[in-house]
Amino acid sequence: ARIRHYKWEVKYEYKSQDCYKKLAITINGRTPGPTIEAQVNDTVVVELKNSLLTENVAIHWHGIRQPGTYLYHAHYGLQREVGLNGMIRVSLPPGESEPYTYDHDRSILLTDWYHQSTYEQATGLSSLPFVWVGEPQSLLIHGKGKFDCSTPGLKAGLCNATNPECSSPYVITVVPGKTYRLRIGSLTSLAALSFEIEGHNMTVVEADGHNVEPFVVKNLFIYSGETYSVLIKADQAPTRNYWAVSKVISRNSTTPNGLAIFNYYPNHPRRSPPTVPPVGPAWDDVVPRLAQGEAMKARQGYILPPPQTSDRVIVMLNTQNRINGYTRWSVNNVSYNLPDTPYLIAVKDRLNHVFDQTPPPDRYDSQNYDIFSTAKNFNATASSSIYKLQFNSTVDIILQNANTITPNNSETHPWHLHGHDFWVMGYGQGKFDINSDPKKYNLVDPIMKNTVSVQPYGWTAIRFVADNPGVWAFHCHIEAHFYLGMGVVFEEGVEMLGRYPTSITGCGDTKGYRRP
Ligand code: C2O
Ligand code: CU
Repeated sequence: ARIRHYKWEVKYEYKSQDCYKKLAITINGRTPGPTIEAQVNDTVVVELKNSLLTENVAIHWHGIRQPGTYLYHAHYGLQREVGLNGMIRVSLPPGESEPYTYDHDRSILLTDWYHQSTYEQATGLSSLPFVWVGEPQSLLIHGKGKFDCSTPGLKAGLCNATNPECSSPYVITVVPGKTYRLRIGSLTSLAALSFEIEGHNMTVVEADGHNVEPFVVKNLFIYSGETYSVLIKADQAPTRNYWAVSKVISRNSTTPNGLAIFNYYPNHPRRSPPTVPPVGPAWDDVVPRLAQGEAMKARQGYILPPPQTSDRVIVMLNTQNRINGYTRWSVNNVSYNLPDTPYLIAVKDRLNHVFDQTPPPDRYDSQNYDIFSTAKNFNATASSSIYKLQFNSTVDIILQNANTITPNNSETHPWHLHGHDFWVMGYGQGKFDINSDPKKYNLVDPIMKNTVSVQPYGWTAIRFVADNPGVWAFHCHIEAHFYLGMGVVFEEGVEMLGRYPTSITGCGDTKGYRRP
């Protein structure tokens, strides 16, 4: 094992990722930031210089536990969506190999891109009347997109279609006949995506760092916070280039598709394919999305079966609400608020006054709640309370989706758990039935993930072992949804942790703090 040092400077810079000039947060001048590469058991040291002038930085090492493909991103305010993000690639130690073969390895990060600043967005979301962030202006493929600079109403000088930062699309160059492992991650703020490469099938082999039983797709559905590896063989006519396309699904979006070039060597990398880019799947068809989730199984030989029973079942109804007129998202009618004092210190030192002590509910009133209609009552409460989990216990979470405040509307939510991987036990449409649906769980070979989607009017069941002492967020990975309260916090085994470094004190009630 080695120690790998990274030196990062994080700052705001004017960028034209999609030809429109706006402030982005960069790492060493780049967004997405550098890919962290390491081998299993290496220690990665990132020395970060915060040159943001007026903001803090907190980086979340999203999903990190094992070899595979992961992500990192800002976890402070809405910083993630202005470019403070990147990928992590963990390779196997020498002598070990993946259960599949390929000739080359490439990574691409998919994002969406807004022209408004995060401050305008955060202000709109916290205002009366509510101002929604709307659909993103562009989809970026590894930081590159193309906004139409002839769009009416643009301020002069802001959009320049010939800017070298955006004038040519992202290019994935391949040699005919070779097989490529493409590591695809999504860190969109809002959009659920379908990704495809014109004329090429993709064989999915990895999801969130775990080997999956290979299966073939024409397009890959990928939600914010997820990573996949797919194998692609460059087996089409080598005399031309092909389109790689990302497309918004699950929202009737105005955002144009993101385009990159799948370049067959030795064609010119910037030569446009002679065809119209594929249109992709219908935005509102849930069936193939659920089918992809169900097709995914742990790979033979790499199956870690889940505990066959659980110690606790928490059903989480996801709703859009109003609190004093403000629009919020809630779980079991509790909309999450971050306290000022770090939970780790608060729990360990029993500073009970710094966050709400009434635990959030394990259930909602499923007898009387109609998930297919707007709620009879939109009210919810805001709280910073947490779920305390028994250390080493097995916990089932059922995420239940419902109608939003708007009639006939339900959205897709990608839920991400910090600090753990979970088994995906099952998906379903409609209301989860606690008596019959658990009988359909996959107890044999479910995949493990750290992010999973919940489809409109559907449910998703996950299981995990609370074996990582600490305080962990579990939240919708849509930036604005988490900001509006769509998340919960789990605590387990904090009493087992050793002394925390005093350097983590200083916020909230721990200013000038002395450990008891
Ligand atoms: Cu990638 Cu808390 O998120
Ligand atoms: Cu959400």
